[in-house]
Amino acid sequence: MRRFDDSSFGHGWFQAAYSEDLRKGEVQPLTAMGREFVLRRDMQGQAHAMDAHCPHLGTHLGHGGRVCGTSLRCPFHGWQFAGDGACTDIPYSPNPRLEMRHLKSWPLVERNGLVMVWWHPRGIAPSFEVPAMPEHGDAQWSRYRRQRWEVATIWQEVQENIVDTTHFHHLHGVATLARLDRFEPAGPALHVNILHDFNTPRGRLPGFLQTSLYGPYFATVRFRIADLAEILFVDSVVPIEAGRVAVSFSLMARLQGIASPDMSLALIDEAIHQVSQDVPIWEHKMRWKRPSLAEGDGPIMRFRHWAEQFETEDEVPAPAPLRRIEIAAHA
Ligand code: FES
Ligand SMILES: [Fe+2]
Repeated sequence: MRRFDDSSFGHGWFQAAYSEDLRKGEVQPLTAMGREFVLRRDMQGQAHAMDAHCPHLGTHLGHGGRVCGTSLRCPFHGWQFAGDGACTDIPYSPNPRLEMRHLKSWPLVERNGLVMVWWHPRGIAPSFEVPAMPEHGDAQWSRYRRQRWEVATIWQEVQENIVDTTHFHHLHGVATLARLDRFEPAGPALHVNILHDFNTPRGRLPGFLQTSLYGPYFATVRFRIADLAEILFVDSVVPIEAGRVAVSFSLMARLQGIASPDMSLALIDEAIHQVSQDVPIWEHKMRWKRPSLAEGDGPIMRFRHWAEQFETEDEVPAPAPLRRIEIAAHA
């Protein structure tokens, strides 16, 4: 059964790796957006993302490709590619015509300890930036705790959760119904603030969930309860293929400047627990085009309207195969 109408891969920055996992000289395969990429960090420390398959005979460079200085060398016949995808060497050819060979490279930035790659179905250059979180690397905050799920759904369903104010109480058991304090689209960004009360060992206390989305695949979420506890995490959603996404959380707990660092750490467990409650819903739900919403629901349709800006482009079709020209035999 088809559960969603649109499983296209809208444009945006997506998390391709953790910076610390891609060491100098390392090459990694990556599947995202229904296609194959190769990631590498060259010997000068610069990370690069390119289409995976060698233009020569199609070898996947993420499997056996080697970093040579700033280039990537194909294991099959030794062709080399620079960071911008230009072919720099065909070691055996007396007439390599390098300018004719090219591998598509993708814009890449490293921010917040993450390798972020820009995806656009038509290959258009980045139209917004990945913000830096000053808390990352700050001694007041813990290092990232990582959690990853693979879910049979689309990115819209996962991110829509942010504005679904009523599910926090009913699915996740938050003490009171959430109140929407802010819903502010700003071009490719969307800022949402939700207030609710939590039952804590010190009684019922007010808290908030402050989310900023930057494109479809990257959000920062700040979750705080009074002056007791606070966490901040990256919510990353990466489509792997149509109808399947990887959801990765990179969570930091505030350990200083807060009354209960232990409770900050417990909030990390709580955030992870909440997603594990969302996953079976996402895995099986229908995405109604016109859901039967009730007064009191969160701004679901306003969220969808914001999300549509990323959904409209179709991928440029692959070039048509050359037509065979039939040569009529002379009688
Ligand atoms: S397939 Fe890559 S060099 Fe031949
Ligand atoms: Fe949820």
